[in-house]
Amino acid sequence: MIVVTGGAGFIGSNFILDWLARSREPVLNLDALTYAANPANLRAIANDARHVFVRADIRDRDAVSALLAAHRPRAVLNFAAESHVDRSIHGPAEFVSANLDGVFSLLEAARAYWEGLPAAERDAFRLLQVSTDEVYGSLRADDPPFTETTPYAPNSPYSASKAGADHLVRAWCHTYGLPTLTTNCSNNYGPHQFPEKLVPLTIVSALAGRPLPIYGDGSNVRDWLFVEDHCAALRRVLEAGRPGETYNIGGGGERSNLQVVRMLCRLLDELSPRADGRSYAAQIRFVADRPGHDARYAINADKLRQELGWQPAHGFEEGMRRTVAWYLANREWVEQVQTGAYRAWMETHYARRATQEEMA
Ligand code: NAD
Ligand code: DAU
Repeated sequence: MIVVTGGAGFIGSNFILDWLARSREPVLNLDALTYAANPANLRAIANDARHVFVRADIRDRDAVSALLAAHRPRAVLNFAAESHVDRSIHGPAEFVSANLDGVFSLLEAARAYWEGLPAAERDAFRLLQVSTDEVYGSLRADDPPFTETTPYAPNSPYSASKAGADHLVRAWCHTYGLPTLTTNCSNNYGPHQFPEKLVPLTIVSALAGRPLPIYGDGSNVRDWLFVEDHCAALRRVLEAGRPGETYNIGGGGERSNLQVVRMLCRLLDELSPRADGRSYAAQIRFVADRPGHDARYAINADKLRQELGWQPAHGFEEGMRRTVAWYLANREWVEQVQTGAYRAWMETHYARRATQEEMA
């Protein structure tokens, strides 16, 4: 058995579905069910006995310890985190608590469990920390992409909390010998992403006739990866990664935010045209910038490619097309997530993001 924390969220749910489609090994899914979680993400495996769901918080060491003792997993993959940069700017406390204290608590529970294992199981055990490229800070246009040796320079409360967690993971391996793996991945997109993030926010807002907010001038660059490629990389790192190592994950998909939103509008124009025949691009609005907005992320994933033979299977346009098609085919999912917590966030989000014309 493996344990997945945060398995009801975007990437965790994709990972579990992917895992169970390829392996007979059961998964214990440990999730606190925050606003970002959605049990509907796991509907396809509702009757699959290999998926055991437990509502628990990674900060609850006793609960995590009891689950580890009861299920005796060979690995723990930690996806659980507060993940949205804008929310971290407006409310950093929960990020420090969940992402930093949470990882500390999880590491301590995992260490105690691991120390009690028989020697052969101890050697085989892995704790995989799912982290982000944002820990490396911001690149200029002509800088080379981040490698695993790029110094950490996080700029947002979110990335600082993830960077701190990565350091704890490193220390637990170095000091106690806990066999850890850390992955630093670029921006994911795909099914099940909560529509506060740029890609699903653009799709959902476009279809609802709302403005499509682009921060600043839209020139900030992210390195986009289809979520299935991230999941495949995580499986490969778990299988063959060397304990104590970190691996960058990214698909060479650098695009400016304006390019991303324009592509989504073009795909929507094709797959679900507006009633008035105009392009969804007419809904684009340039709005006040995100404070401390990192200019550019780009990932060098040579280590993962060369050592572990991973490479992305999905091109950018193909992945975006599949993503748009998924949101169009899953209107019920979209409607269901746009209730209480989402509506409250969007109201403040739009209120804060007065258009630049309005500010002038
Ligand atoms: P998400 O916000 O969609 O899901 C997070 C999940 O974690 C939710 O199901 C939530 O209920 C759960 N969770 C939060 N706090 C918890 C806690 N204290 N205890 C137990 N469960 C808790 O996030 P995501 O986009 O799927 O990201 C998953 C992980 O991948 C995060 O660690 C994130 O930092 C990392 N990551 C994300 C991206 C991306 O582009 N989304 C890229 C690189 C790395
Ligand atoms: O790089 C990996 C990270 O990618 C993950 O660690 C984070 O969990 C994940 O949320 C994501 O962070 P970003 O801040 O890059 O993602 P977001 O979708 O919030 O924003 C992508 C870009 O789009 C960013 O430059 C800000 C911009 N943006 C975002 C929103 C929500 C807009 O222009 N308008 C918006 O309304």
